Amino acid sequence: MKICIIGSGYVGLVTGTCFADMGNDVICVDNDARKVEQLQSGKVPIYEPGLEDLIKKNVSEKRLVFSTEIRAGVKDSKVVFICVQTPPRSDGSADLSYIEKVAREIAANMDGYKVIADKSTVPVETGLWVQNTIQKNIKKDISFDVASNPEFLREGSAIADFLKPDRVVIGAQSDKAREILGELYKPLEVPIIFTDIKSAEIIKHASNSFLAMKISFINAISNICEKSGADIECVAKGMSDDHRIGAHFLSAGIGYGGSCFPKDVAAFNWISGKLGYDFKLLREVERINSDQRKLFCEKISKALWVLKEKNIGVWGLSFKPHTDDLRNAPAIEIVRFLLDEGASVKAYDPVAMEKAKEIFANIKFALTPYDAAEGCDALVILTEWPEFKGLDLERIKLSMNQPLIIDGRNIYDLGIMEKYGFQYISIGRRQIG
Ligand code: UDX
Repeated sequence: MKICIIGSGYVGLVTGTCFADMGNDVICVDNDARKVEQLQSGKVPIYEPGLEDLIKKNVSEKRLVFSTEIRAGVKDSKVVFICVQTPPRSDGSADLSYIEKVAREIAANMDGYKVIADKSTVPVETGLWVQNTIQKNIKKDISFDVASNPEFLREGSAIADFLKPDRVVIGAQSDKAREILGELYKPLEVPIIFTDIKSAEIIKHASNSFLAMKISFINAISNICEKSGADIECVAKGMSDDHRIGAHFLSAGIGYGGSCFPKDVAAFNWISGKLGYDFKLLREVERINSDQRKLFCEKISKALWVLKEKNIGVWGLSFKPHTDDLRNAPAIEIVRFLLDEGASVKAYDPVAMEKAKEIFANIKFALTPYDAAEGCDALVILTEWPEFKGLDLERIKLSMNQPLIIDGRNIYDLGIMEKYGFQYISIGRRQIG
């Protein structure tokens, strides 16, 4: 099937490449000429494991092309996916101006029946607005259908999440649109849930908000564990064996970040209020998440007493492992706190340091985790990169001014920390040393 992807960012690029790899002919359109040139020359502007090779393979097999022209993309395509950004505005609502602009441009270039499927995360009722916008700007004798096809891609595992999803959600208003999108996703051989458009839009916001709530819930429980002397890892384990609760998204830490959870929770809260429902629970999810970073900063202050002129090593800057994305990463707030307190910071991250250099002008960047720990008064762990778990702890301890680790992601076992003689402070567990 001929498919057009409008918006070749994180979601559009992964979606277009995977559809091409499934045998479709895909044209990915983006209005950023530099990005399109990069893609055409085989360079990938985002860090996503496995994406570069998959793009190269499908470009060489002539199933995947890139263009800045919406006309080129829309013409002949049977399905046009809208994958443009919906950034948060100051009041938490989603900025839908990119969606509206693209809907107008699609309408102006329609040369026959197509399904226009929105994959961007949008508040409920957006599908209706897209339909009205196209209706107003399309040549009268051309028919079309609008659909909602939300994505559930996690950064760092986006290709696997696309090719092996738990489910595909398709919100459509006609049998014809359902048939076309159903045919497109059929080769994945996974459950396809057909709904109306509004329900599909809410499924996305509700899913991300539930996951964020799960994280804030276990973080709240971690604070009760600290105050009572219980152990959050034991509590999480005891909860997660209940299949109704499950183990995923039940790891306590310094809270969620990224480009989706914060944005989607705020947008869902906003649209709910606009519809007349005061979603207090979501605001509590946000509050707990924000407090988790503040509580972690308090732990650092308590452990070091005075932060001024202290040397702090930082492991991990990205909002989670396997990505270079720093958007809403806890590290941004925590490093800023350390600098404001007059500490000097030496940070190491396996992939996010290049991007971090654009945000943090006045911190040092270490070439290895050992380098980041050397000569430090405390080592602060902010992202649970797997490589941090297998390091030589004896070497690290001997290289530090004092063996103090403050771990925001509970990467180490308490017994091991005790054995090596560290003072070890973590989340929801007893302090060592
Ligand atoms: C999320 C959703 O999972 C995905 O379905 C949606 O399409 C986009 O948003 P992503 O933001 O890439 O994906 O990352 P995810 O793996 O969901 O983690 C989000 C945040 O939660 C990260 O900051 C992570 O550190 C944090 N997290 C996750 C926890 O603090 N504890 C957990 O147990 C799991």
